[in-house]
Amino acid sequence: MRTAPSKVRALKQAIPFHRAPVGEDEAQAVAEIVRSGWLTMGPKTVEFEQRFAEYIGVRHAIAVSSCTAAMHLALEAVGIKPGDEVLVPTLTFAATAEVVRYLDAVPILVDSDPTFFNISAKDAARKITARTRAILPVHFAGHPCEMDSIQELADGHGLAIVEDAAHALPARYQGKMIGTLSRATAFSFYATKTLTTGEGGMVTTNEDFIAERVRLMRLHGMSRDAWKRYSGEGTWRYEVLEAGFKYNFTDMQAALGLVQLAKCDRMRERRQAIAEEYTRTLSASESFRTPCVARDVEPAWHLYYILLEENSLRIGRNQFIQELQDRGIHTSVHFIPLHEHPYYQKLGGHRTGDFPTAEDYFARCISLPIYPGMTSQDVESVIGSLEEVARDFKR
Ligand SMILES: Cc1ncc(COP(=O)(O)O)c(C=O)c1O
Repeated sequence: MRTAPSKVRALKQAIPFHRAPVGEDEAQAVAEIVRSGWLTMGPKTVEFEQRFAEYIGVRHAIAVSSCTAAMHLALEAVGIKPGDEVLVPTLTFAATAEVVRYLDAVPILVDSDPTFFNISAKDAARKITARTRAILPVHFAGHPCEMDSIQELADGHGLAIVEDAAHALPARYQGKMIGTLSRATAFSFYATKTLTTGEGGMVTTNEDFIAERVRLMRLHGMSRDAWKRYSGEGTWRYEVLEAGFKYNFTDMQAALGLVQLAKCDRMRERRQAIAEEYTRTLSASESFRTPCVARDVEPAWHLYYILLEENSLRIGRNQFIQELQDRGIHTSVHFIPLHEHPYYQKLGGHRTGDFPTAEDYFARCISLPIYPGMTSQDVESVIGSLEEVARDFKR
């Protein structure tokens, strides 16, 4: 039987899954750009790229329209060609695999490791063929992948590593910032991400060639600094060197990004405190499994997931989410594994049962609210509601 939580209480306590940590400072910074009259990619974008590169500690940062664009450009720059195979975790968002298809290459789906739910290096090794050219690890939820094993695999088979760090700003692996470790890393500044510019992304790399190639291909394949052609500094003349893409950033986004970047560490500290509170309280319950954290990483805590211990509950994940929603707690699910979607089932001939760890995760996972604007009472309310539902539906 379903409990009937008080509507008044639910309304009073409604906690959204996410609220972007933006305010007056961001609004003013964007307004200044609007007043300046230069709206698209320009000097603010260059400033944001420089600051971002300094923050990560990497030679180049190239701002683009999304993480999806960043991954597409990075894979193109490392030379992925039609028919090449790229190893991609099945437990990720659509973008990670679709960018491989943009290049007429083939995403080869890989199961997750059962501890952190990142790409399993063991399963990846099993899936390497003569056509494998790259591996695209995702730092799931912001917890860095075990990069030593991935590097060893890549070295052994001549694979390029391009990282999907949509969840991993800022995060560290063995003390080193994510964004410095492999040939290229892609970040997301989508509205729900840990640093937001509404939409946006970044490629970081230490290789001059990759940086040049990404810069060229993000704006129609036009020759160097073609964005300056409408400024006093630039010239109207440019050359089209390649059939590029329309993936540029804008100065309005850069203005927002600069304000966000200045508080990136503070925002991570707050998410870390929320995560610690969730883990401290929820790990005591037999109904929940909380996330593991490796000893040599600092996660970004973009997501905080729990896994339901279904043996201790009379309801499944979907009803659990509904019960939370009825109590004013909004949650989400990350992700429906790619091989459960019709497109990838057709492409790879996959079916349910092929990726047991990702499937088990998906069946039991709930992503809880975690963002800097959450108050301690908000966190308590989420925990209280989780405990209440677990109690009401105890097996
Ligand atoms: C793991 C992962 N990769 C890539 C993306 C795509 O990011 P963007 O929307 O910036 O293209 C997302 C977005 O949610 C994501 O979760």
